[in-house]
Amino acid sequence: MSKTFHITTFGCQMNEHDSEIMAGMLTEKGFEQVKERKDADVAIINTCSIRENADKRFFGTLGQLKRRKKEDPGFLVCVCGCMMQQQHIIDTLKSKYPWVDVIFGTHNIHQLPELIDKALSEKRKQIEIWPDGGEIVEGLPARRLYTCKALVNIMSGCNNFCTYCIVPYTRGRERSRKPEEIVREVRHLVRDGVKEVMLLGQNVNSYKGDSETDFAGLIYRLNAIEGLERIRFMTSHPKDLSDRLIQAYADCRKLCRNIHLPVQSGSSRVLKRMNRKYTREQYLELVEKLREAAGDITISTDIIVGFPGETEEDFEETLDLVRRVRYDSAFTFLYSVRRGTPAAQYAEQIPEEIKHQRFNRLVELINTISAEKNAGYVGRVERVLTEGPSKSGSQTYCGRTDGFKLVNFKGSADMIGQMVDVEITEGKTFSLEGRVIGG
Ligand code: SAH
Ligand code: SF4
Ligand code: F3S
Repeated sequence: MSKTFHITTFGCQMNEHDSEIMAGMLTEKGFEQVKERKDADVAIINTCSIRENADKRFFGTLGQLKRRKKEDPGFLVCVCGCMMQQQHIIDTLKSKYPWVDVIFGTHNIHQLPELIDKALSEKRKQIEIWPDGGEIVEGLPARRLYTCKALVNIMSGCNNFCTYCIVPYTRGRERSRKPEEIVREVRHLVRDGVKEVMLLGQNVNSYKGDSETDFAGLIYRLNAIEGLERIRFMTSHPKDLSDRLIQAYADCRKLCRNIHLPVQSGSSRVLKRMNRKYTREQYLELVEKLREAAGDITISTDIIVGFPGETEEDFEETLDLVRRVRYDSAFTFLYSVRRGTPAAQYAEQIPEEIKHQRFNRLVELINTISAEKNAGYVGRVERVLTEGPSKSGSQTYCGRTDGFKLVNFKGSADMIGQMVDVEITEGKTFSLEGRVIGG
């Protein structure tokens, strides 16, 4: 009988995509993917380390597996992802969780099948962690979550060293894939029925494919692929957002009128201490340019509350920036100390209570604006790519508009993977309701 596996994924879309690749490799090897971890012979946990909570959730999950491991010594536990790139985590795993079988890093994904084989045949722990990646490994298979849309890595790593962030330490330096490889992959995906691609990188704006192809150049090349309907990307750093990319919004029909543009703070003083390399004014100017090039563009962001030294005035500048930009949506985070990053050493850490108060004020403002913006969609007709059944129940399906808004509507299973025209009937804080008026 073939062996079964299950992957638990924490963190961002990079991790999601790494999990798709691991699933692809194991499926190719004859393993079968199962929906529930309890039914698996091999459990893989792909970790994230962006905030302390993420670390805690991993150790919680690992704790749950201990009993199963005791009852069934043949059960294999593999751990990977961003947490594994930190020595103190490896030390904790070795001392407190000695029953973990395979530990591998973010640059060693391609070795998973071989590591599982070795763990089974040698019956001893396997550890493979490279501190940084070499050449990007091409041609790995992927078992994708959706059939109509796909995640496509265009680069890995990050060179920015924002002072709060662990990613440059866990993902290594920036490396871009060759544009031909990306174009070839997207062509294959389109042949398999994919209509929408999400280009992934920690800072896609600093993509350097070859001497002629920067990020905007890549968008123009992908826009020319027949059969592809939509191009999205994540994440773009304001400091490198070029005029050429802004122009691409005006020129490329397939580039969705949506951008996730993390601001982190509305105070230039805090931005400087975060090492973000732009000011509040420069950010606002970018937003203005984007709106000039693509009038109805939707904009979302990430904001950190309670960065060390953030004063009430700094925080009010953040509130003011949110009011000016009027984001369609925003992810807000409480600053979390990350071992080994510069900001962890900063004096003036903000008390938890103040962080929480600011967080609540910010979320309230953001939600009010989101609800107002979404209410403005009522009566509009939006083209929606149907992704699948919605959470709200029978005969209800959901999909995304060009501007990345989630829409729920009554439909049928044959709409999955298809573009439909939906008239918006209601705007809620986090989603829209609508009815299908055409295919
Ligand atoms: N590369 C992306 C962000 C990746 S991490 C970019 O630069 O935009 C996703 C988000 O997590 C960040 O935008 C930031 O808002 C948040 N984040 C990162 N480190 C954090 C920390 N130590 N505490 C709280 N939030 C953090
Ligand atoms: Fe982290 Fe900054 Fe790199 Fe984004 S750009 S991954 S926030 S260091
Ligand atoms: Fe987390 Fe690593 Fe992504 S730290 S957010 S999984 S790059």
